Amino acid sequence: MQFKLSQASLNDYSGQAIIVPLTSKGDQTAVSQAVDKNLNGFIGQLLNNKDFKAKAGDSQLIPMANGPRLILMGLGELPVTPGDFIKAVNGAAKTLKASAASDALVDLAGIEVQGHDQDWALRQLAQAFQNSLYHFDECKSKSEDNKPDTVQTLNVVAGNDKQSQLDFGQAVGKGMAYTKKLGDLPPNVATPAYLADEADKLATLSDKLTTHILDEDKMEELGMGSFLSVSKGSIEPGKMICMEYMGGKKGDAPHVLVGKGITFDTGGISLKPGAGMDEMKYDMCGAASVLGTVLTMIQLDLPINFVGVVAAAENMPSGHASKPGDIVTAMNGTTIEILNTDAEGRLVLCDALTYTIDTYKPASIVDIATLTGACLMALGGVNSGLFTQDEDLAAELLAASETSRDAAWRLPLQDEYQELLDSNFADIANIGGRLAGATTAACFLSRFTKGQKWAHLDIAGTAWNSGGKNKGATGRPVPLLVNYLAAKV
Ligand code: BES
Ligand code: MN
Ligand code: ZN
Repeated sequence: MQFKLSQASLNDYSGQAIIVPLTSKGDQTAVSQAVDKNLNGFIGQLLNNKDFKAKAGDSQLIPMANGPRLILMGLGELPVTPGDFIKAVNGAAKTLKASAASDALVDLAGIEVQGHDQDWALRQLAQAFQNSLYHFDECKSKSEDNKPDTVQTLNVVAGNDKQSQLDFGQAVGKGMAYTKKLGDLPPNVATPAYLADEADKLATLSDKLTTHILDEDKMEELGMGSFLSVSKGSIEPGKMICMEYMGGKKGDAPHVLVGKGITFDTGGISLKPGAGMDEMKYDMCGAASVLGTVLTMIQLDLPINFVGVVAAAENMPSGHASKPGDIVTAMNGTTIEILNTDAEGRLVLCDALTYTIDTYKPASIVDIATLTGACLMALGGVNSGLFTQDEDLAAELLAASETSRDAAWRLPLQDEYQELLDSNFADIANIGGRLAGATTAACFLSRFTKGQKWAHLDIAGTAWNSGGKNKGATGRPVPLLVNYLAAKV
């Protein structure tokens, strides 16, 4: 879909659809009043009859005998809250996508969103419309949904200098769609090798991006005993995928994102129960969000140095798999007693973190991982869990979360929790027992990031929607990550 600036008025539009913003009580914008007048009070009548209630997210298509279709976009009450605005644009985008219209015109004049400017609204608008196009039918043999996208162009009434806002929102939407696709792909397709190939494909899109992929031999050489203790249980070879995006000044220390890429998590010998286990294909969503962020960064062509690292492996039970009680040595020399093979994410991440610190001397590191069921229980699907002892980094990530409306909530990471990881036989255990599971997982990672500007995002609850018809990746936290990096420029 193309997003184009326009100076047209809704009443003169000769295209296929106009999007009419409406509030549920009283005051309509000058734009929608003008449309109402042009249609001899037709819209006012719909509102009076309560045929259209204009609650936030309500949306309806009205075919017209003459002229473009109307797409009514409910905003709820004034003043418009950010959450209602996002519901509204998503609702309208969905209606447009379901229609046969190939283009539409939207005018947000007169809509003020609490606490945000017009640039923000334009970015969210483009992100929502781009996102509405996402569908996953790669694996349907003859899909009815397999038709090409009908929506080609969204014309947006805004000043001449606003194209960059639309481009930003669109780039985020595309990064999210890519992240969702990688997540939704079946685990027999989206293997560690597949993710490595995807990284190589991304590198062909930009001169600024180069990839380095470490195979198991190389990781053996580097002493990544912790990572390899997970990957060796599977016939799929593990990969450490490094994507270096050098858009900034030569020599400037890069910001690094490290993603957990367990392409399927059976639990290993500490096998998970069968019900719903298919959803453990989403255990690579941290990795997918790093790849999606790289794609967005390429499109935005931002002048910063950043590196995306993906620790990709499959966690399987087998004759080669780790057993509870095994002790392995991580790249930094720490010995780890594996008390539960289902706590595998931290085992691959710790070596990725050591490697990142040694190789890149990063300005900051953020890891993103579907790490613990405990985080999902604590925060549900609303917030990602944020752990860091660095107040500045916490503030930056929470600010990015706030602007992008990609919610995150800070959870504790005090030193007092560290002793829960004590092991009788090794330097540390890979689990901390029943209590504070999301925090002890973060504590484990903190042992490998001492002295670094580091934060951990647990996206176990936010990376995908579970079960039934809703099942699917969300594309989060790409908006948060992109806004975090963009603020560095
Ligand atoms: N990938 C899971 C965490 C997870 C579970 C994410 C459910 C989303 C939904 C992770 O590898 C895991 O199995 N964690 C264990 C850790 C435990 C053994 C200490 C967990 O959370 O149960
Ligand atoms: Mn696990
Ligand atoms: Zn896992």
